[in-house]
Amino acid sequence: MSKPPDFNRQTILMQSERGFKSEIIAAIPLTAKEKLFHIRICDPCERENFTFLPGQFIMIELPGCGEIPISISSSTSNKEFLALCIRNVGKVTGMLHRLKAGAIVGIRGPFGTHFPMEKMTGYNVLLMAGGLGIAPLRAPIYWANNHRSDYKDIIILYGAKEPEQILFGYQFEEWRTIYNLNILTIVQKADKRWPGRKGIITDLFGDIHIEPDNTFAIVCGPPVMFKFVCAHLSTLGLPRQRMFVSLERRMHCGMGKCCRCNVGSTFTCLDGPVFDYWTVMNLKEAI
Ligand SMILES: Cc1cc2nc3c(=O)[nH]c(=O)nc-3n(C[C@H](O)[C@H](O)[C@H](O)COP(=O)(O)OP(=O)(O)OC[C@H]3O[C@@H](n4cnc5c(N)ncnc54)[C@H](O)[C@@H]3O)c2cc1C
Ligand code: FES
Repeated sequence: MSKPPDFNRQTILMQSERGFKSEIIAAIPLTAKEKLFHIRICDPCERENFTFLPGQFIMIELPGCGEIPISISSSTSNKEFLALCIRNVGKVTGMLHRLKAGAIVGIRGPFGTHFPMEKMTGYNVLLMAGGLGIAPLRAPIYWANNHRSDYKDIIILYGAKEPEQILFGYQFEEWRTIYNLNILTIVQKADKRWPGRKGIITDLFGDIHIEPDNTFAIVCGPPVMFKFVCAHLSTLGLPRQRMFVSLERRMHCGMGKCCRCNVGSTFTCLDGPVFDYWTVMNLKEAI
C-alpha cells in the first residue's frame, strides 16, 4: 500500500521552490568528461543564508535548456561558492560544459537526505567511491576534516576505470597529510606507467583493517558497485544500518511533486538520495 503524502514535509519544501540566481565563477576541467564548477549565489544575503549537509543535492537550471540534480561537492563551511563536479552526458550537462566563468545559472535547494555524520561520532569512517561517486563524498570528507577529533580512523577507498579518470587526485596528498586520513586507489585498466594497484574496489579490502563493531561506511558509485561492496561489508560483520549509500534516479522537481524518481512509494528526492543499506535492501527494484 502506498504511503499517504506527508503534507508537513511538503510545506517545509515550499521554501526550496525558490531559485537563486547564481554565477559560475570557475569551470575547471578535471578529465575529458568531468568539470568542476564553482558556483556563487549572486545575492550576498542569500549566499550567507544558504546551508546544506553532506550528501544533499541541488537542482541547477539553465533557462531554456533544462534543470538537473547535482550533488554538492564542497565543504558545508564554504560560504563563498558551491562546488559541483559535473560529467558531460547529455543535453543540460553538455550545455553546462560549454559555459565559462561569468555565466548566470539558477539553482534550487538544497534537497534530500544527508549522510548522518553526527551519528558517526566516535567511530571509524570508511568512505568508498567508484568513478564519479567521489563527487558526493567530498562534502563528508571536508566535514570529517572540520570535525577531525570526532572520528577515529578515516579511510577512503577509491576505484576508477583508468588512471586518466581519477577525479581529485591532486587533493589526495593533502587529504592524507593534513586531514590525517588514509586513501587507497585502484584502477581496472592501466599501462606500465601506473605505479598503483590494478583491480576492482573490493580488492582493496585486503589492504585495510575494518573493525565491524566500530565502523560506519558511506558508499557512492554505480549501483552494481555498492551492491558488491555492501555485500562484502556485510560478510565482514558490518550491520547494514551502518552502511549508507546515495541512490541516483532520474529526477525532475526534486521535491516530491512529479513522481519521476519513485522506487515503489519511496521518493528518492525526498526520502533519499541517502539511505541506509537496510532500507535499500527492502526497496523493491532499488538496485
Ligand atoms: C541526487 C542526484 C545527484 C547527482 N549528482 C551528480 C553529480 O554530482 N555529478 C554529475 O555529473 N551527475 C550527477 N547526477 C546525475 C545527473 O543529474 C545527470 O547526469 C543529468 O541529469 C543528465 O542530464 P542531461 O540533460 O545532461 O542528460 P540527458 O540528455 O537527460 O541524458 C543523457 C543520458 O544520461 C542518462 N541520465 C540522465 N539522468 C540520469 C540520472 N539521474 N541517473 C543516471 N543516468 C541518467 C540518460 O538516461 C541518458 O542516457 C546526479 C543525479 C541525482 C539524482
Ligand atoms: S523528482 Fe519529482 S518527485 Fe522526486
